[in-house]
Amino acid sequence: MSAFGFASRLPALLGIRVPIVQGGMSWASSSAALPLAVARAGGLGVIAAGPMRPDALVDAIREIRAGTDAPFAVNIPLYNKRSAEFLDIAEAEAVPILIVSQGGPRAHLARFHARGVKWIHVVAGPDHATKAEAAGVDALIVVGGEAGGHPAPDEVSALVLVRSVVRATALPVIGAGGVADGAGIAAMFALGAEGAQLGTRFLMTEEASVHAAYKQAVLGAGIADTRLVGRGGLPVRQIRNAFTDAVDAAERAGMGKDDLATLYMSHTLKEAALDGDVALGKVEAGQTAGLIDDCPPTALVMQRLIEEAEAARRRMIG
Ligand SMILES: Cc1cc2nc3c(=O)[nH]c(=O)nc-3n(C[C@H](O)[C@H](O)[C@H](O)COP(=O)(O)O)c2cc1C
Repeated sequence: MSAFGFASRLPALLGIRVPIVQGGMSWASSSAALPLAVARAGGLGVIAAGPMRPDALVDAIREIRAGTDAPFAVNIPLYNKRSAEFLDIAEAEAVPILIVSQGGPRAHLARFHARGVKWIHVVAGPDHATKAEAAGVDALIVVGGEAGGHPAPDEVSALVLVRSVVRATALPVIGAGGVADGAGIAAMFALGAEGAQLGTRFLMTEEASVHAAYKQAVLGAGIADTRLVGRGGLPVRQIRNAFTDAVDAAERAGMGKDDLATLYMSHTLKEAALDGDVALGKVEAGQTAGLIDDCPPTALVMQRLIEEAEAARRRMIG
């Protein structure tokens, strides 16, 4: 049993108190503040290495170590041009848990397992899950189409996608996409997941390092105010704005694939997260933006999630 009463192998596997995972979020968790706060509260805090300079990644890892004895993870997308360097840093700094996406684990697993590192692989669906299990990863994360950032490209919702992956594998599965509160966490466990990963909810905390205008845009959004842009490539779910309207209009007008790709690349998450350009930047957030109406300290979010999940569990068993 985990600390809040749901059966899970993850606390024993990872050394965390509660199987609540803060999704790695480029910029928002590309520093120590958010992952450290989550780790201190008993969940799994995750540094998103994607946009970081190697020296900044080293600094963030050391800052978390200095702030807590609890384990934490680094999220490394293997398609990133610096992924080999990030993996070397993770090894040198003895990072206890890796969360790896966008590429196969085989080439790297033995090296990290030999050092006792736990490898959690982000998979897009059941076939991918079976392959990752055969390769020997320790746990899986699967992210439904509701999610902010880059959901699985097929746009299957978490209700179906998480269930399909749980059916396909014997590994512990962490379900993501559409979870904003303890009821959502309980829903993931009802599907057979043994943990829940939340992105947008942790984006809306004091510690998440994105521009105030970004948080304001997420606060103001309803459940139907996100759009998926970049279909057919690396789709991204973000708050609807002038940029997504331009992409939608171009798609309707039948713009060719190459021009659409150029348009997709013309604006970035960085513009929204660092510069606060929420009209044209990629304001990445999930449909749960419409379920979230505050931006409190992370410790309070963690406390609420644990209490709400326990309340949902009691409600479900009558
Ligand atoms: C602003 C933002 C940035 C993200 N960046 C990454 C990333 O760098 N790597 C990654 O694997 N997932 C990334 N994600 C996805 C999250 O880790 C998580 O899976 C997702 O947000 C969960 O869905 P939810 O937003 O509905 O909670 C990002 C999500 C958001 C909202």
